[in-house]
Amino acid sequence: MSRADRFLKACRRQPVDATPVWLMRQAGRYMQAYRDLRAKYKILELIKAPELAAEVTLQPINAFDLDAAIVFADILPILEPMGLQLEFVKGDGPIIHNPVRGAADIEKLRTPNAAEALQFTIEAVRLSVSELDGKVPLIGFSGAPFTVSTYAIEGGASKNFLHVKGLMHESPKDWHALQEKLAAMIADYLCAQIEAGADAVQLFDSWIGILSPTDYRSFAMPHTQRVIDTVKAQHPDTPLILFGTGCAGLLSIFKTLGPDVIGIDWRLDLAETWDSLGDVAVQGNLDPIILTTNSEAIREHTGRILDSVAGRPGHIFNVGHGIVPQTPQENVALLVDFVHQHTRVSCPE
Ligand code: CP3
Repeated sequence: MSRADRFLKACRRQPVDATPVWLMRQAGRYMQAYRDLRAKYKILELIKAPELAAEVTLQPINAFDLDAAIVFADILPILEPMGLQLEFVKGDGPIIHNPVRGAADIEKLRTPNAAEALQFTIEAVRLSVSELDGKVPLIGFSGAPFTVSTYAIEGGASKNFLHVKGLMHESPKDWHALQEKLAAMIADYLCAQIEAGADAVQLFDSWIGILSPTDYRSFAMPHTQRVIDTVKAQHPDTPLILFGTGCAGLLSIFKTLGPDVIGIDWRLDLAETWDSLGDVAVQGNLDPIILTTNSEAIREHTGRILDSVAGRPGHIFNVGHGIVPQTPQENVALLVDFVHQHTRVSCPE
């Protein structure tokens, strides 16, 4: 067994020779090679040029012994072909210049064919798979309808999500119309990535933790369910990872949606959470800020997570949320090698 199949085996809860590891936001600003390219191109320019996106996808794979690549893209460009004006502003993060606030805005949103509208990412998947040449699998991804809609509605990042919750509770019909449009686009987009060669897909529902379980069931779950059901109907053998943060109260509901893998953030004990979830693979869950500290802390916290679930097939090591730009590259190298050395078995049962 090798670097090539650990990740997919773990997604399927099969025994592996060492615990696979990849890192959310592994292609990004903590890498000098990425910063060099970003000095020449804006983020949307990188995403929209398939050769450059594939180059960025491979940067962390060439630098570290990671077990999976993730295509370089973002969860927000899907909003552009729907009619929203997206811009990444240095220091402020993403901005939507014409946010969606009511029935008329939602009605105007287009739902073009995702494979055509986001052809640049589909091509980046194809090129990345070809350049990876079987070395490691490629993960495709999308935001989940809820998290993508928070940007569409608020017009950017938010703290209290007033407009989101306003629309949800005051105009549920419009809310569901928006989520349905997003779910249709997102399901097609994920299927197109798989058809272009992605070996697994991850659905990022990063801000879902702002919802109570009751509101999750009424306002978000049916749409995530539709995405998962559509992808699984067309690609039953492609592992699907469902990830959220701050959503301890929602994880048992996530499980009922049928993902192969559930992503767990660092606010939870991985072993306890896995015990309560039962038969599903798990991904996580190092606090990404630990990676900005020293080697002793990295080894201690990583070792503790690995030991707590040792011998249980179906663990994919990851950070509990994206790696931050202040992370020294040598800490990533240390982490990846430590995960493999600490868990290596000479002959998996
Ligand atoms: O994981 C990877 O390496 C793949 C690439 C990836 C990016 N964004 C590239 C990116 C992935 C998987 C994402 C997902 C994403 N994008 C999420 C969900 C995951 C999460 O972190 O919760 C969200 C919420 C977004 C939206 C987004 N994109 C924000 C809020 C920002 C700005 C915040 C920041 O860190 O500056 C982005 C920009 C972005 N997307 C960057 C990268 C590498 C940094 C921008 C830059 O290069 O200047």
